[in-house]
Amino acid sequence: MASIKVHPVRRLHATITVPGDKSISHRSALIGGLTDGELRVTGFLPSEDCLASLTAMQSLGVEVDRISETSFILKGCGGKLSPALEPIDCGNSGTTIRLLAGIVAGQPGFSTRLFGDESLGRRPMKRIVDPLHLMGAEVLCEGKDQRPPLVIKGAQLKPIHYKMSVASAQLKSCILLAGLQSEGKTVVEQPIVCRDHTERMLEYFQASISTKNNSIELYGGSKLYARDLQVPGDFSSAAFWLVAAAAMPGARINLLNVGLNPTRTGLLNVLMRMGAQIKEHVEDSGSEPRGTLSIQEGSTLRGTTIGGAEIPNVIDELPILAVAAALAQGTTIIKDAQELRVKESDRLAALALNLRAFGVPVEETPDGLIIQGGAPLKGAKVSSFGDHRIAMAFSILALFAHGSSVIDNTACIATSYPTFERDLRGILDADLSSRFNIKWPFRSKKETSPTT
Ligand code: S3P
Repeated sequence: MASIKVHPVRRLHATITVPGDKSISHRSALIGGLTDGELRVTGFLPSEDCLASLTAMQSLGVEVDRISETSFILKGCGGKLSPALEPIDCGNSGTTIRLLAGIVAGQPGFSTRLFGDESLGRRPMKRIVDPLHLMGAEVLCEGKDQRPPLVIKGAQLKPIHYKMSVASAQLKSCILLAGLQSEGKTVVEQPIVCRDHTERMLEYFQASISTKNNSIELYGGSKLYARDLQVPGDFSSAAFWLVAAAAMPGARINLLNVGLNPTRTGLLNVLMRMGAQIKEHVEDSGSEPRGTLSIQEGSTLRGTTIGGAEIPNVIDELPILAVAAALAQGTTIIKDAQELRVKESDRLAALALNLRAFGVPVEETPDGLIIQGGAPLKGAKVSSFGDHRIAMAFSILALFAHGSSVIDNTACIATSYPTFERDLRGILDADLSSRFNIKWPFRSKKETSPTT
C-alpha cells in the first residue's frame, strides 16, 4: 500500500504551478462532449477522476484525440450520444456519476449503467434521483438507500423549477445538464450559492442561461457551440501549499496560474481572518478568472469560526482548514458542514481521528469540529481512509510535527493531484539542503543550493 513519509521542515520557500482544476476538467469533457463541433482542451487535469469523465464520454460515442497528457481535441456529439457497450466506471468520482446521470437521462432510446468504487458506492444519490424523476427520467438505484450503481433509461425530459435542499454544485449541474436536453425553461434555486463552473461553461458554449441571486434559468433544446477551452490550475490543490506557508513563520510561496473563481476561493477570506497575508493577482479572465497567489511571510495564525453561507465555498478546503486550525493559536469552530460526512470518506470522523493522533485536542460534533490549536504536535502514523484530501491535508500537518510522520493509503491522491508527492518532495528536499548548508561551515555562500 502506498504511503508518504514526511519529516518536519523549518523553511518553506517555493514556487509551484498546480495542475488543472478538477471541477473544470470534468466539465470540459462532459459538457465539451455535448457541443456541436470540435474543441481543443488544454490544461486538463489527468487525474483518475477526470479521466473517468473523459473515458465515459468516449464510451458514449464522443471522439477524443489525445495530444498530450493535459490536452486533447474533442469532437462534440452535437447533443446526441450513442449507447455505451458496457457499464460506465465512474471510479471514485461523485462529479462524474452525478453530472453524467443528468446527461444520459436526457438521451432517449437507450439505458446506461453507472457504477464506481467502494467509496462511490456509499455516496447518496437520492438528491439527483428526485429531480430526474420529476423531469420524466427512469432512474434505478441498485445500491441500498438509493446509492450506486445507477441504471438510467434516457427519455425526452420535461423542464422543471426545482428548489434544491442541499447546496451542491453536483446536484445543480445534474439538473442543468438534464434541463439542457429538455424543451423549455428549467429553473434551479440553490439555498446558498455554490461553485458555478457549469453555468459559466454553458454560457461559454452559448447556451441560453442566466443567474439572478440564487436562481439559475436555462432554456433547453438548443445546441452548444464548440470553442477551445483552457483549464486553469486547481485552487483546491493550491490550498494545501497556501496553508503550509500561511502557518509557517517566515515562509514564502508563489502559486502560479491558479483558478480564482470567487465561488471557490472562500479559503482566502478564512485564512486572512486567521491573520494570513495573501496577495491575489488576477491575470486573465476568460470564462474563468485565474492568476497568482502569494504569501511573502508566513506567520502564526489565530483561530476562527467557519460556518453558514461560507461552507459551500470552502467545502473541499475544510480538511486543510482543519489543519490550519490545529496550527493556529486558540479555538476554531467548524459548523454547518454535515456534507463532509458524505464525501469520499466521512471527513469529520477522519479529521477528528487523525488530528488526535498528532496530539491536537478536537471535539467532533454532528456538523463540524471544535479544534484547540497551538498544542505541540507529535509525529504520527495515520491513514487517509482512501480519501485524497485527507491524505494531502495530513501530509501538510506533518511538516509541522516534532518527529517524522507516515501517511498511509495515499494512492487515492491520484484522483485529484497526481503530482502532489513530487511537489511535497521539492519542499522537503529544499529544507534538508538548506539545513545541510547551515551545518557545513566550510561551504561558501555561493555553493548553497537554490530554493525551489
Ligand atoms: C464538485 C462539487 C462539490 C465538491 C466536489 C466537486 C463539482 O461537491 O465537493 O469535490 O465539481 O461540482 P458537492 O456538489 O457534493 O458539494
